[in-house]
Amino acid sequence: MGMKPKQVDMGRLVYITDKHKLEKWALIPLLQEIQETFGYIPPESIEPIAETLNIFPTQVQGVITFYAGFTLEPKGKHVVRVCRGTACHVKGGQSILRLMKRELGVAEGETTPDYQFTLETVACLGACFLAPAMMVNRSYFGKLSPSKINSILDQHGKEKGKD
Ligand code: FES
Repeated sequence: MGMKPKQVDMGRLVYITDKHKLEKWALIPLLQEIQETFGYIPPESIEPIAETLNIFPTQVQGVITFYAGFTLEPKGKHVVRVCRGTACHVKGGQSILRLMKRELGVAEGETTPDYQFTLETVACLGACFLAPAMMVNRSYFGKLSPSKINSILDQHGKEKGKD
């Protein structure tokens, strides 16, 4: 994908891990806190986490891989989740996704080079009555059309005239 990871503030990382010194049970809350702080789990944090909790790095890695909510890749400021469920599909969800890819210039699972947007798809957002639907961060947007998409992206600070 050719993304350059952002510089990680190791001081902040150490501050977070130190609070949980030798608390093996704290692995998940610790990972959650790191992800909330940095937007992802920086790969370089795995060793310090393992050391702090006195467990193996592979155990940390295992938990990160197991839980879908954790990611080792930096994500954009805005995470766009386009629904690819059946209800949305029959209402044109595919063209919404296609438009989104074109507007943001990224494929599914990718982040824009300026780290403003990450594009993801989900099986169902649980808002089928809004089909075709998507989420941006924690907000739902439904009954989507190309013009709605453009105004949603504008609202979230997409630079105009950029492809
Ligand atoms: S199928 Fe899209 S929200 Fe359920």
